[in-house]
Amino acid sequence: MFGKLLFYVHFGLVFHVVICFKDTVEVPRFEDSLNNLTVSLGREAVFTCVVNDLGSYRVAWLRVDTQTILTIASHVITKNHRIAVNHSDRRVWFLHIHDVRQSDRGWYMCQLNTDPMKSQTAYLDVVVPPDILDYPTSSDQVAREGANVTLRCAAHGVPTPNVVWRKEAGDLLPTTNFSDTHNNSVSGAVLHLVKVSRLHMGAYLCIASNGVPPSVSKRVMLVVHFPPIMTIQNQLVGAKEGDTVFLECHSEAFPRSINYWTINDQIISQSDKRFEITSIERGYEVDMKLMIKKVGRSTFGTYSCISKNSLGDTDGTIKLYSLSGKYEEMQYNEVEFDETPDVSELEALKRSTGVSAAVRADYFVLLLPLLML
Ligand SMILES: *[C@@H]1O[C@H](CO)[C@@H](O)[C@H](O)[C@H]1NC(C)=O
Ligand SMILES: *[C@@H]1O[C@H](CO)[C@@H](O)[C@H](O)[C@H]1NC(C)=O
Ligand SMILES: *[C@@H]1O[C@H](CO)[C@@H](O)[C@H](O)[C@H]1NC(C)=O
Ligand SMILES: *[C@@H]1O[C@H](CO)[C@@H](O)[C@H](O)[C@H]1NC(C)=O
Ligand SMILES: *[C@@H]1O[C@H](CO)[C@@H](O)[C@H](O)[C@H]1NC(C)=O
Repeated sequence: MFGKLLFYVHFGLVFHVVICFKDTVEVPRFEDSLNNLTVSLGREAVFTCVVNDLGSYRVAWLRVDTQTILTIASHVITKNHRIAVNHSDRRVWFLHIHDVRQSDRGWYMCQLNTDPMKSQTAYLDVVVPPDILDYPTSSDQVAREGANVTLRCAAHGVPTPNVVWRKEAGDLLPTTNFSDTHNNSVSGAVLHLVKVSRLHMGAYLCIASNGVPPSVSKRVMLVVHFPPIMTIQNQLVGAKEGDTVFLECHSEAFPRSINYWTINDQIISQSDKRFEITSIERGYEVDMKLMIKKVGRSTFGTYSCISKNSLGDTDGTIKLYSLSGKYEEMQYNEVEFDETPDVSELEALKRSTGVSAAVRADYFVLLLPLLML
């Protein structure tokens, strides 16, 4: 008829007296082992301890590492407000840890005040989704063509995140360290780009993942500066009077270039009715197109397409000649020299071939003082 007087010890911290008024005391048993938990920072962790035949014994939750009693039965003992306990029919006992922090990582115990004491332990792992630190992760870069560029990505998280670099559009180029390349990405926090070219220009993504969602990425722009270059398909174009002719140049430059056309060293203005100027820009590339609406005397000659940026300038020339040959002959015949002009003057005259009468007159005025020497 007398209950059994039982002392038990929680890691020597607390002495607890339980008096059980029972003739036959059934022995409580754990149904399963306690499950380990892996919980993301800020989420809730819930340990579940299932006890059959608890009778009048009590369930306590403890933190093993710090030897702290968290709860006894339905009472929260710790001052930690993030801890709660509940149960279902005194059989299933839940320990709740709200807003999980890294400091909560460790071993937890579900303990029964039997004699001897019975317990189960399990581990709470706290994982942290990856984060990319703005500093010292690289910010947008500007480099001259030919320079070496290093992009860095500083990622944190638990477990330590894997970092890969990829190019947002297109492939990483073979000048990167390809020994680590899979699927157009390079693993590792540091991306070395050796001797960058204009083809390296673009957005790079540093992607950090550690299995804890969400993965994060940071976008770093690489801008490559280079002086203009000009390429021309047809440098010699023949046409008949009345034809419509297109002249085309292809320019590449960054920063973006200023592009324009000249005819016989005179800048062609947008408002010149004889022509129509168009240009199509694609990144650092520009297709320059000059339409000569109706070829005539005033439109034969030497055209230049010119491209300038802060790093330099370049030009290309296209000669538009008459298929009949009529104008060239005529114009050479128009000029008569008393004496043979020197080479540079000849060059100037050659270049003036095909110039309109008016422009031609200007040339002649310019040349006159030279010729009179
Ligand atoms: C919990 O994790 C520990 C080591 O971290 C392991 O030894 C134990 O078997 C795990 N328990 C369960 C139920 O998975
Ligand atoms: C106790 O917590 C568990 C787990 O969060 C929940 O499923 C259950 O409904 C709760 N029981 C009570 C009685 O609040
Ligand atoms: C760029 O890197 C390559 C290979 O590491 C090296 O040989 C070269 O000297 C570097 N160039 C510059 C300008 O630092
Ligand atoms: C290229 O990768 C290999 C292997 O990861 C490494 O040993 C080497 O230093 C890297 N070279 C450069 C230039 O980054
Ligand atoms: C490349 O990516 C595809 C799809 O994302 C994947 O199925 C494949 O296994 C990857 N290959 C390598 C070598 O990583």
